[in-house]
Amino acid sequence: MPVSLSGRHFLKLLDFTPEEIRYLIDLSAELKAKKRSHEPHRYLEGRNVALIFEKTSTRTRCAFEVGAADLGMHAVYLDPSASQIGKKESIADTARVLGRMFDGIEYRGFGQERVEELAEYAGVPVWNGLTTEFHPTQMIADVLTMEEEFGRDGMRGRKVTFMGDAGNNVGNSLMVVCAKLGIDFCACGPAEQMPDAALVEQCRAVAAETGATITLTESVDEGAAGASVIYTDIWVSMGESADLWGERIRLLSPYQVNAELMAKAAPDAIFMHCLPSFHDRKTTIGEEVFQKFGLPELEVTDEVFEGPCSRVFDEAENRLHSIKAVMYATLR
Ligand code: CP
Ligand code: NVA
Repeated sequence: MPVSLSGRHFLKLLDFTPEEIRYLIDLSAELKAKKRSHEPHRYLEGRNVALIFEKTSTRTRCAFEVGAADLGMHAVYLDPSASQIGKKESIADTARVLGRMFDGIEYRGFGQERVEELAEYAGVPVWNGLTTEFHPTQMIADVLTMEEEFGRDGMRGRKVTFMGDAGNNVGNSLMVVCAKLGIDFCACGPAEQMPDAALVEQCRAVAAETGATITLTESVDEGAAGASVIYTDIWVSMGESADLWGERIRLLSPYQVNAELMAKAAPDAIFMHCLPSFHDRKTTIGEEVFQKFGLPELEVTDEVFEGPCSRVFDEAENRLHSIKAVMYATLR
């Protein structure tokens, strides 16, 4: 049976089969080719989508807005201060109101239970644009980026290592997508920052079906060895207190992705990062952290970020194509 995701929510990748995830990656590649060749694809002409952001964004917001326009839709952006959600109006009430006006709703914010509740009441597809626990649209873009390097379905049996704050939304989601697609996943970081044990168990059960492996290690040598992809993310995520910087620097500095670490990976390894990144002092937070702790580069060095292994801007571009695929697949 051909895959159809029509009418489905997109809340976390655990809800999807490997075939459904494969379909979204292939659809992303198809939409990317159409965009590149200027082939019109206004398949959802006249529809409307609401974009709720309780946390800030560059890539995700722009991908939803540009993606909606490319598909012929109109998008309404609700910024972290503009909506009543949670302050004057419950999530359930908001969902029922927006569900009457819009064909689909994106939500970026805090706990996963918020986007799940929105989905329960909206009556239209709801898309997770990042929660504390998961960042699923990022993963479709990321696997597309990996496959552009190693071939369609070429990641099966390869090793992807997340270095650093492995229990954050991006680390969790990378573990899930790797388990689903038969990719060997390694979380490399200190014990304090590992993915939640229950999620690891869930992923190991999935991995047993797909042939993936899930490894957790505190050893950089073990984590980097043979990896085709070295992936990292910032050390203090949105919604976490800035007071955590000192502790995170102490715990995570050994896992900074630098040239020495990349040299331990496979010879053809690429570097990936969901962005934004603190690879220099050209940001307010990067400069503040430097002034306080003396580190000019944090989770990745500028040398690696700007170097030949880095695929971070291809990855960022692929957010657009994959988010379009998610909207199109669920609204078609
Ligand atoms: N990677 C990502 O989600 O970026 P934004 O926070 O800019 O959306
Ligand atoms: N872990 C990061 C991802 C940003 C795209 C955060 O939640 O801030």
